[in-house]
This record gives sequence, structure tokens and C-alpha cells, in this order.
Amino acid sequence: MKFEGLKDGSTVLIRKLAMEDLECSLRFFQGLPEEDRRYLRVDVTKREVVERRIRQAEAGEVYRIVALVGDDMVADGALEFSSEGWRSHTAEIRVIVAREYQRRRLGALLIQEVFREAQKRNVEKVVARIAAPQTAARKIFESLGFRLEAVLEDHIKDATGQPQALVIMSCTLDEMWSELKDFYEDGNWPDG
Ligand SMILES: CC(C)(COP(=O)(O)OP(=O)(O)OC[C@H]1O[C@@H](n2cnc3c(N)ncnc32)[C@H](O)[C@@H]1OP(=O)(O)O)[C@@H](O)C(=O)NCCC(=O)NCCS
Repeated sequence: MKFEGLKDGSTVLIRKLAMEDLECSLRFFQGLPEEDRRYLRVDVTKREVVERRIRQAEAGEVYRIVALVGDDMVADGALEFSSEGWRSHTAEIRVIVAREYQRRRLGALLIQEVFREAQKRNVEKVVARIAAPQTAARKIFESLGFRLEAVLEDHIKDATGQPQALVIMSCTLDEMWSELKDFYEDGNWPDG
């Protein structure tokens, strides 16, 4: 558990997700604009879905962290491990930030935390799977050193049932640390 400063000087608490977060987690997902919920893989406005996510996190199947401001959740980040032997050196990253906290470097902060966990678990390569219209996600992953691996046309359906292309990006741990250093140096933040 730790407090982190954002680009605008405000502070968030970053810690692992726990069952005590069920209500604020539900509030967070239900409060997201439809556009940001449209491309999520599961319907996180449902209590049973959110409860299952928390149980998976507590069981260690997924590393899940949240950013909190008081009792409010303002972001959620995850690293999902693979149970398949041939993919056991890879993991998938997911991150979502509340609209009013976007563009304050919170997404980058969560991604950095997720990479720390990836390193501890000996993950060699982190993969991001996003829907083609998630342009902000594509930008942040590009700015942190992810590269485009593939675009699968009409591979997924969004929450409205509309087919969308699935964009697959990836980054090795070595590439990530070097890009993160450049990212913060260029932005002259947080160390000045
Ligand atoms: C993608 C998302 C997590 C980014 O979070 P964020 O906290 O706003 O991102 P940051 O402030 O850390 O951005 C870091 C850098 O990424 C790039 N970036 C992030 N959002 C961007 C946008 N909308 N347009 C252009 N560049 C963007 C910029 O280079 C930015 O640095 P800068 O603000 O100094 O220019 C957020 O937009 C979100 O939750 N979107 C909806 C859900 C989603 O698409 N999740 C990804 C699925 S895995």
C-alpha cells in the first residue's frame, strides 16, 4: 500500500484489490461513461462479476490493484497470468481510469506498478489486447514502449453487439524499464 502523487499534485492510494472494495468497485464501474465500458470484456456493472474478479485476485490468479481517493475508486489495473505452459512467461495487462482522473499520469503509474509485479513473477513479456476504437489505450501503451503485434478484424463484439477489430500489443520487461525511464525524463516528472 502506498500513496502516490499525480501530475497535477493530487494524491492517490494504490493497493491490492480486496473483498472490502466490492461496493466501491461496483460504484466505480457503474459510474464509468458508456463509451469507456463499451469495450470491456465482461459486464462489470454486475455485482456477481465484480465479486468474481475480486475472488480471482484474492486467490492470486490475477494481480489486481486499485487507486483510491478517500472511499472512491478512481482506477483499476490488472495483470492476468496464463495457466498454459507455453504462455507461462507472458501475462496480460489491463488498466482503466475514471474520466475525471485521466491525463494525470495515473494510467502510467498503474502500468508501472503492474510491471513491477510482472518482474517479481518472472514474466518476460506483457501483452495488451484492446478494441480498435480504444485510441487512448493504444497511445499510452505506445508511449510506454509497447509495439503492435496484430490486428484481428471483427474479432470481438462490443457491449452494443457491434463487431470490432482486436488490437494486440506487447512489450518485454527490458523494453518497458528503458521506455519508462525516457517517459519520465521527457515529462520532467515526478523527480523534476
Ligand atoms: C487508457 C487509459 C487507461 C489512460 O489512462 P490515463 O491515466 O489517462 O493515462 P496517462 O495520463 O497516464 O497518460 C500517459 C501518456 O499516455 C498517452 N495518452 C494517454 N491518454 C491519451 C489520449 N487520450 N490521447 C493521446 N495520448 C494519450 C500520453 O502520451 C500520456 O502522456 P501525456 O498526458 O503527458 O501526454 C484511460 O484513457 C482509460 O481508462 N480509457 C478507457 C479504458 C481503456 O481503454 N482501457 C485500456 C484497456 S487495457
